Amino acid sequence: MLNFAEHKEALLQNMANNSVAIISSASLQVRNRDAEFPFRQDSDFFYLTGFTEDNAVLVLIKKADKNEIVLFCQPKVKEMEIWTGFRLGPDAAVEVLGVTEAHPIDDLHQRLPEYMADCGQVYAHWGNNKEWDNKIIHAIEKVKLKVRTGITAPTAMLAIEPLLHEQRLIKSQAEISLMAKAAQISAQAHIKAMKMVKPGMFEYMLEGEIRHHCAMQGARFDAYSSIVGSGDNACILHYTANDQEIKDGDLILIDAGCEINHYASDITRTFPANGRFSEEQKALYQVVLDAQLAAIEQVRPGNHFNHPHEAAVQVITQGLVDLGLLTGKVGELIESEAYKSFYMHKTGHWIGLDVHDVGAYKKDGQWRELEPGIVLTVEPGIYVAVDETSVDEKWRGIGIRIEDDVLVTDMGHQVLSKDVPKSIEDIQTLMA
Ligand code: GLY
Ligand code: MN
Ligand code: MN
Repeated sequence: MLNFAEHKEALLQNMANNSVAIISSASLQVRNRDAEFPFRQDSDFFYLTGFTEDNAVLVLIKKADKNEIVLFCQPKVKEMEIWTGFRLGPDAAVEVLGVTEAHPIDDLHQRLPEYMADCGQVYAHWGNNKEWDNKIIHAIEKVKLKVRTGITAPTAMLAIEPLLHEQRLIKSQAEISLMAKAAQISAQAHIKAMKMVKPGMFEYMLEGEIRHHCAMQGARFDAYSSIVGSGDNACILHYTANDQEIKDGDLILIDAGCEINHYASDITRTFPANGRFSEEQKALYQVVLDAQLAAIEQVRPGNHFNHPHEAAVQVITQGLVDLGLLTGKVGELIESEAYKSFYMHKTGHWIGLDVHDVGAYKKDGQWRELEPGIVLTVEPGIYVAVDETSVDEKWRGIGIRIEDDVLVTDMGHQVLSKDVPKSIEDIQTLMA
């Protein structure tokens, strides 16, 4: 079970004495006219509350004598609930969410200055949303108007991210279990796509199959828009059009992962539409796979974030030289970043409540050390553009990425998404 009380408690611990933190829920986003996108709670707000309604604000107040946890949320209004569904309401929120007080969201404006009185610092997500910034600044102004009564007004507006995001980076056992479940479900979805693909299908059909599988396993939402790129579409790093016909001889790159209770998975596999890799596809695929395995090997406590990337770059550059796509000395090609014509992104990122999760990658200018409880992706690739005239024609239009979600453990690492095959032989056997 996610322990939201512990999440709030840890944040309060790390806040300065006499300070207040203000965290807003996400807002509904209009898709077109009266239709909205499915609501996704803000990850920071969810991490602290577990509350999945929009139009809510959490206020944490740290004072010398006591801490207070205040929630503002939509009031219970029967007529509104008939249209848009159940609301928890402030009365039930105190009990259900374990807050000290809860009030209707419309009271925020009036109450916020009261909570800020005699607080030195105001922590918030400054700079993300002007309207929200202005609301908080307006509340600070209201406190300032009262200083002649003996109240002191805040003197510092601080980013909440360094505190909260460092906390979120190290996952609890409960968080890891959710991520492992998301990765297992997504892994099976990738296997389904490999098994069902046939030349002549459209990319979005595989996207639909993955979505269907995840939903049937209880994962209602994707962690991000699925990438299903066949042929040279696999070379477009953020391809999401997914609208092309899959052809015999194509490789298909699928980058897709579901969320479980807001926790993400992020898996990429690349496989042949007809079940058999061509010689060129095999050769480049094996380089990416070797790079990925070498990078995963580097995931352990004490190594830093960039160690997996350095390992992947080494293997990929060597492989590109061996196959004749690059010429020169490996060390110099790495130094001059020549490999970036074919491998232009980093080897991974933190993953958690957000697919590109939070937490600093560097500390004091140095890559951060990996610690148990961090989950990161390892996702090297090789992408040879169709118009890459520097290489033999036979290599052009091949895009390959292999991505897994890897937990740092005391002993080294655990690959959460290991259930999807990735060796050439295993993929061909599965697809046969
Ligand atoms: N699916 C997004 C990424 O791999 O970073
Ligand atoms: Mn991905
Ligand atoms: Mn990723």
